Amino acid sequence: MKVTIIGAGNVGASCASLLAQKNIVRKIILLDIRKKLSEGKSLDISQMLTNTKVIGITNDYSQSKNSEIIIITCGITRKPGMNRDDLVSTNAEIIRVVTKKSISFSPEAKFIIVSNPLDVMAYVSYMTANIDSSRVIGMAGILDSTRYRFFLSKKLNISPIDIQSLLLGGHGDTMVPLYRYTSVSGIPIKEFLSEEENNVIIEKTKKGGEEIVNLLGTSAWMAPSVSVIKIVEAILKDSKRIFPCSAFLRGEYGLRDIYLGVPVIVGKSGIEKIIELKLNQKENNLLNKSAHHVKSMISKLKN
Ligand code: LAC
Repeated sequence: MKVTIIGAGNVGASCASLLAQKNIVRKIILLDIRKKLSEGKSLDISQMLTNTKVIGITNDYSQSKNSEIIIITCGITRKPGMNRDDLVSTNAEIIRVVTKKSISFSPEAKFIIVSNPLDVMAYVSYMTANIDSSRVIGMAGILDSTRYRFFLSKKLNISPIDIQSLLLGGHGDTMVPLYRYTSVSGIPIKEFLSEEENNVIIEKTKKGGEEIVNLLGTSAWMAPSVSVIKIVEAILKDSKRIFPCSAFLRGEYGLRDIYLGVPVIVGKSGIEKIIELKLNQKENNLLNKSAHHVKSMISKLKN
């Protein structure tokens, strides 16, 4: 099994490191346009000594040939004061180019998109690759729901591991964490805190990425990478895990021609099923607002 990671920045290198340590793939290609970067990072990762070969490549896509999975992490990242949407036109062009090159050498690959603004970049990659949308997956909801669980666990003074949660919508200020679908070891969250108290946690979650950008001057990479590797593992092991991922919608939730965060089943074919929940009016309104925001960015790009 071979996985290619495009972009050897913080997220790309961290994905390579985590994946190498799992010993579940034969080879990882870490590819970047910048000379020496992926070679240096790959060497460092290889010296952790794992059974996975990690090879750094400068911009030669032929080395990614026949990858099972392509993880796209490249593009510019946020600086303090920017939001994810500020990256849209620069990153759209980058995602178009790398998707085109990658698909030409790995026509059967599944794509995991991490670059921001996430839902729009997943859409761009899907349109460029021109493959079944089940094979283009946007990673965002897993990360947002782990942030939500983290903040909840601090508020409730319980382990984040025992919290289950679900999140819909775009990766940004319009994300929709669902109070009704949050529980702690099977106990509904309403037994622990009121919807108003939960709303405070949701606001913190929405600003979770920004909080890190303000502290570090760049985007997060540890938690995002762990989230990416969960998807990789679910594909390679065909484990049919249920995750919130950005997926192409064709009428599900009343939405079409958009990538947006929804619960999906992930297995060897990528997104094997989109799970459609019966939302109440309030949840529906929030989801539509989020969809509207993502759609407006897609339309801007199209123009
Ligand atoms: C974040 C970036 C990865 O949310 O979008 O930290």
